[in-house]
Order: sequence, then C-alpha cells, then structure tokens
Amino acid sequence: MAGYRVRAAELGDCQEIMRMIQELAEYEKISDQVKVTAEDLLRDGFGEPAPLFRCLVAECEDENRKKAGPQLVGYALSYPVYSTFKGRSLYLEDIYVTPEYRGKGIGSKLLTAVAESCLSLGCARLQLSVLDWNQTAINFYKSRGAHDMSQEEGWRIFRFLPDDLQRMTSKDADAN
Ligand SMILES: CC(C)(COP(=O)(O)OP(=O)(O)OC[C@H]1O[C@@H](n2cnc3c(N)ncnc32)[C@H](O)[C@@H]1OP(=O)(O)O)[C@@H](O)C(=O)NCCC(=O)NCCS
Repeated sequence: MAGYRVRAAELGDCQEIMRMIQELAEYEKISDQVKVTAEDLLRDGFGEPAPLFRCLVAECEDENRKKAGPQLVGYALSYPVYSTFKGRSLYLEDIYVTPEYRGKGIGSKLLTAVAESCLSLGCARLQLSVLDWNQTAINFYKSRGAHDMSQEEGWRIFRFLPDDLQRMTSKDADAN
C-alpha cells in the first residue's frame, strides 16, 4: 500500500488546497458560501508580516501514483485563538481527505500533526466545530478524545455577517 506523508503547505500548494476547500464545501452542502480564492490563501497563509493560518497537507509518497492521481489528498488548516480562561489555543478550521483516500489513516495523521503543533506551541486546547449531521467526522473526533462542548456545557455558535455589522455600525443604529 502506498504511504502518505504530512508536511507544511507551501506557496505552490494553494491551487490544490483551494480545490479541496471546494470539495469540502460540497460535502458540507454549502459550496455557494465559498468566496475565498487561491490568491487569498497565498496572501493570508504565506504573506507578511505574519500568516493568518497554518496549513498541513497530505500527499502520496509514491511518485507514480502521485502522477496519476491528485497531487494532494488531504489538508488541515488551523489558526491561533486565545482563551481568556486557558490562554493560547488553536482552532481547527478544516480537516479534509479526498473521498477515495479515506479510511487509510490520512485523517488521523493530519489530526495528530495538528495535535503535535498544538502541544509544541504550548496551547491549552484545540477547538473545532462540526455540522450536527456529519456523524463520520463526529465519530472520528470523539474516538480520538474530543469533547462535545454543546452537550457538555451548552455552547452554541453565533456569527455576525457583513450586513449585520453594517447595520450595527451605521448612523441609523446610533439613533436607537
Ligand atoms: C473526517 C475525515 C477527515 C477522516 O479522514 P480519514 O483519512 O478517512 O481518517 P482515518 O482513515 O484516519 O480514520 C477514519 C475512521 O473511519 C474509518 N473508515 C474506514 N473506511 C472509511 C472510509 N471509506 N471513509 C471514511 N472513514 C472510514 C476508519 O477505520 C477510521 O475509524 P476510527 O475512527 O475508528 O479509527 C474524512 O472522513 C473526511 O475528509 N470527511 C469529509 C470532510 C469532513 O467531514 N471533515 C471534517 C469537517 S468538521
């Protein structure tokens, strides 16, 4: 069986990472929400003064298979967050493995590599969100020790979109 290696993403990987982001969005049935481009990834992940995220990628070690299949078969993208209770932490935004490569341990390798980064950075936690119907991913995280914070502490996810922010900061809002 071909081996797979996990490495830090490089500038030249942005198109392939973009392809996998689109695949993940399709899997999550929210592909219309993807507005990010490969250029955005290049700027935000590899630009100055400090990258806004870190990305690990998985690739096949067998050169012949690599030529025949996709260059990259998975990725994990994370970034620093800060807990005022616990201190520095990492947020795992995405973890994804191309369908035909699943069940071969690549997702585990990616998650373990993120866990190693987390520990080496002195992080108190690794946080993530998962859609409630995505039982495969829920099982994957739970079997590796993740805590379901909605169940354990009742946390819910909130989000302000640009229109909400505009409304909040507009002059009309000041009058209220
Ligand atoms: C979740 C995901 C990253 C796991 O990647 P993976 O490479 O399949 O992970 P692994 O092979 O290391 O482990 C998958 C688990 O499912 C089992 N499995 C077996 N065949 C499988 C298959 N064809 N597809 C998925 N999982 C399979 C594995 O045995 C393993 O079980 P375990 O948790 O008891 O060890 C991958 O399924 C994926 O990309 N899913 C779609 C995107 C997604 O949901 N991402 C998370 C968003 S929050």
